Formats: sequence, C-alpha cells, structure tokens
Amino acid sequence: MCGIVGYVGKKDCSEVLVDALRKLEYRGYDSAGIAVFEDGKIKVAKEKGRLDDLVEKMKREGVPCGHIGVGHTRWATHGVPSATNSHPHAGGDKVTLVHNGIIENYKELKEQLISLGRVFKSETDTEVVAQLLDYNYEGDPIAAIKKTLAQVEGSFALGILFADRQGELYAVRRESPLIVGVGEDETFIASDVPAIIKYTNQYYLLEHDEIALLSENGVSFCDLEGDKIEKELKVADWNQEAAEKGGYEHYMLKEIHEQPTAVKTTITPRISHKLPCLEECGVTAETLKDINQIYIVACGTAMHAGMVGKYVIEKLARVPVVVDIASEFRYREPLINEGDLVIIISQSGETADSLAAMRLAKKMGAKTLAIVNAKGSSIAREADMLIYTHAGPEIAVASTKAYMVQISVMYLLGFLFALAKGKIDEAECMRLTEILTSVPEYLEKTINDVDKDCEDISKHLLEADSLLYIGRGLDYALSMEGSLKLKEISYIHSEAYAAGELKHGTISLITEGMPVIAVATQVSLLDKTISNIKEVKARGAVVILVCDKEIQVDCDVADYIIRIDKIEECLMPMLAAVPLQLLAYYTSVHRGNDVDKPRNLAKSVTVE
Ligand code: G6P
Repeated sequence: MCGIVGYVGKKDCSEVLVDALRKLEYRGYDSAGIAVFEDGKIKVAKEKGRLDDLVEKMKREGVPCGHIGVGHTRWATHGVPSATNSHPHAGGDKVTLVHNGIIENYKELKEQLISLGRVFKSETDTEVVAQLLDYNYEGDPIAAIKKTLAQVEGSFALGILFADRQGELYAVRRESPLIVGVGEDETFIASDVPAIIKYTNQYYLLEHDEIALLSENGVSFCDLEGDKIEKELKVADWNQEAAEKGGYEHYMLKEIHEQPTAVKTTITPRISHKLPCLEECGVTAETLKDINQIYIVACGTAMHAGMVGKYVIEKLARVPVVVDIASEFRYREPLINEGDLVIIISQSGETADSLAAMRLAKKMGAKTLAIVNAKGSSIAREADMLIYTHAGPEIAVASTKAYMVQISVMYLLGFLFALAKGKIDEAECMRLTEILTSVPEYLEKTINDVDKDCEDISKHLLEADSLLYIGRGLDYALSMEGSLKLKEISYIHSEAYAAGELKHGTISLITEGMPVIAVATQVSLLDKTISNIKEVKARGAVVILVCDKEIQVDCDVADYIIRIDKIEECLMPMLAAVPLQLLAYYTSVHRGNDVDKPRNLAKSVTVE
C-alpha cells in the first residue's frame, strides 16, 4: 500500500507532488508528506491525516520550494498514523526517502543499527531502510543502494534523495510497483499511472532490482552492478478525464455509471463469429477441454466475482470450481494437481496475497490464468494466461466497475468452457453470448431505473446497527458483494447469508425493524427464496426485495421492492449488482461518510 511520487523538472515541485499524490490517495490516506531540494538543502513537510491537512500545514509553515522532490501518501502498517511516522524519512544527514511496501527484517536491522549508535525517530520499517542506506552511503548512490538491497528483505519501491546529489532523484523497486514517467523536460516516479497522467502518458515500468536515475538530463536505468539497461517506453491508454470525477459527486458514482462502457469494452474484443474468443489471451478451447478442476483465488471484491464465476462455470461446464481467499489458499497447503487451472482475479494486479497465491500455484504445476485490470502489473506479467479487463482506472476504494467487468469475463469463460466440454452446443453458446453483449444496454437502463428508488430506500438503512443480505444460488454469490459494499462505505455491519441456511442459527438475529435485503432474481429458486423471506418478515424484518419486473409477488412479502429488467437467469447478477451498489453508495452519502475513501481501507493492498 501507500503511494509514492517523485518529480524532476522545471515546475513548482511541491505543487506537482501534491497534485500527483491526490491521484494516489486511494492507496492510503492516513498521512502524507513531501521532500524537496530547496536552496541546496532537503526540506521536508509532513502531516497526519489527508493530503489537505498537509496542504494546510504547508500554508501555515511554508511550502518547500524547488524543482526536485519526492512525496508519499500513507496507509500505516508499522507505527500509528502520525506526523513523525509519515514519510519522507531521513536516515541521517545524507539520505531522505519515501517507501511503499514492507521491510520484513526491519527488527533485526534496527537492532544492528542501534548497536552502531544510530538513533531512530519513528516506529516505521521505512526509517530502517533510510538509516541503513545513509550508513552505507559513501558518495556512490548505486553502490549504497546495492549494499542496502542485499541486506533488506521484503517488498519495496523507494524514491530517494541524496543530500549531496542535488540534481538527482533515485528510484528502485522489489515487488512493490513503480513507474517512471517521461514528459517534456520533466520526469516522474509514481506507484501508479493516474498520478502522472495529467503530465504525460509515457512511462517505463521499473522491474525488480532495477535502479532509475532521474535528473535534468532525463532518465537512465541500470542494474545493481551499475550496468546500463535499455527499457521499452510504454504509452498509457487512459486520459486524464478517465481518472477524474467528470461531474459526478464521487468517483464511486461515476464508476457505477461507467459500467456499461466498461463491460462493452471488455467483452466486445473477445467475441468472434458470435462466440467467445480468448485465443489472444492464451485461452483456447483446447486448453480448457482437458481441465477438470478449477480454483479461483482472489481477495475482497475480486473474490466475490470468483463466487459468481463458480456458479456459472459449474452450472454450464460441469467442472468443479473451488473459490479461495488468497490469504488462506497460500498457507493451507492447497491440493493442487498438475494441470489444474488456477484463476487469479485482481483489479490492481498487485495484491500481495493474490500474487503469492499465484506463484505458489505455478510452483505446484497448475496452469495460471490472471484476470487483471491494471496493465503491466505483477500478476498480469507473471501469469501463464492473461485476460485484461478494460474497466479503465478505478479510483473509488469500493470497487464497482472492476467487479462488473470481472464477472463479465467469468461469463465469457463459463460459456467457452461449456462449449469446450461439450456441455452446450455452438447455437446455445451463441445465444448466451448474444445476451451477454446486450447487457451493457440493460445496465445503462438499470442504473437510471433504480437510482431514485435506491436513494429513497437507503434512508431506511441509515440507523440500522446491522443488516442481512439473503439469496440463493447466484443471488447468494451476489449478496456477498452487496454486503461487502455496504460495510466498506457505510460502516454498518452486514452479512450475506444463503437464504436457506438462515433458519440454522442466524435467524435468531432478526428483531423488529432489522433491514433484510433479499435478492431473488433466480426464477428457478424463487418459491424457496420467497419462503425464506416470509420467515424473516414474520419475525419483524423490514424486507427490501430486489427482483425482476415480471415476477409476481404478494404485496405483503416485502416492504420495498426494487425491480430490474428480466434477462437470462444466469446473467441476472450483472443487473442486480447495480441496486446493491447504489444502496451502499447512498447509505454512505446520507451518513455523511467519505464515500471514495472509507476509513481504514486502501484500494491496492500490497502487504500481507
Ligand atoms: C482491497 C480493496 C478491495 C479489493 C481487494 C482486492 O481490499 O479495498 O476493494 O477488492 O483489495 O484487490 P485487487 O486489486 O486484487 O482486486
């Protein structure tokens, strides 16, 4: 987690750094800081809280003034959020740096450095690298970086200023992501593309243990031996507008509205002759035909997309699918056999647990297929097969459009699998694919149809201490995501439950007035779900029912009904996701929360 940036150019460095950090606040936002060369000295400003708190502090105490510097926005791992623990950290007189990642052996290193007489100011693992680098520095930055990297274990991306190298900014990474942007007469470092897209769309991806040197002469790269490296310049296909709010009050709302386009952009290039075609991604009918066991491994929302995938693939292709939380999978000695397919789903492509799970699966002989949104990310680069989702940048911490495109890929895969396994014929596959291609239009309509209802109904959730989401089959899979969305941004406790399982314990939680959101889009399970709804209603629950426009339900079944269009039963989660997203969104708005940056969370979790 954390976001780092750096700038070398002619502009006001502090202004550029703060501006770039704003685009990275999704990575962490409990403190922020910058360090800039000002009149030959490194001047640091840092503050606990949001970036705006730092800006206020600089207004009061002075803004560092110069043209070369580094910046950081933090999601605390070692040491509480405080000005002292904020980055940049100085390691003594010689080195000031910013860090994203975790130094695993920081305790041992800290003890060694203390025994050498070094005094620490903060509780962070980062200060240990700063102190070590400072200790190792004898005038040759590359040699000092090399020596330091040989001693530290863990993941890191570092932006480094050496006090006696006033025209230079150094960067190095291992595991944690880092890009080097190249504009006209200016260069940047950043944890992610949105930070620099306002200034340039051209960038290099720094690889493990590569060092970048940014100066007024441009940028050069070398390995730890100091040997020059030639790198390929990449061009980001995002524009600035795509990374900004575009008139919406929050990124989350904008991203909900971007879902039709995101799905269309993701699926259209993957359909050929009316059938799913993933050959360019390395996925062919031949590969799928021989697969008899699938694991889907991911975290958070991406894992919930995997739950939808499980129901779809098992139902259509009759291949068993195990969905696993990446942090569990990697430590539970999974029973992977050679030839099993392990699908990793990740918006960022950098989630530490998902990446480690994928590496483990590869080591155990599985074929790995990554479904990733961030181009060139670690998971994308290391997977055997890769399907990019084309959601564009997702800034709101609570994921919406990334989930939607992830499930759209789950459907493409499910249809292709079923065809490859001979469980459906070409005509059926074409029929399902055609319905999938019509989903963007339905999504557009659904967003407009349910927006007002969701805003109104959300007002009945504001005072709830806890609520339940219930559903069966795919509705249950979707409920998990609906519940997570609400928890993340409204701070109301909620739980998703398989509707039929409620009576085995959880129904005892129902008290007069407790909201229950029931999702009932699976017509084949409708009667059973309605019975479960009646069970909670009879015990005083306030039921909000999400169902299609054609279902006939007695007026006493639910207190509020949100109706969506009816499409093929297995594709209903794509439409039903929308009211769940909007209910969470409006509940958060009405509770006065920071919708896009919920407390304690970060979008890209590059630590365990
Ligand atoms: C964090 C985010 C979630 C996200 C999860 C997995 O917890 O807050 O929104 O679903 O990480 O992220 P990934 O980038 O791997 O999809």
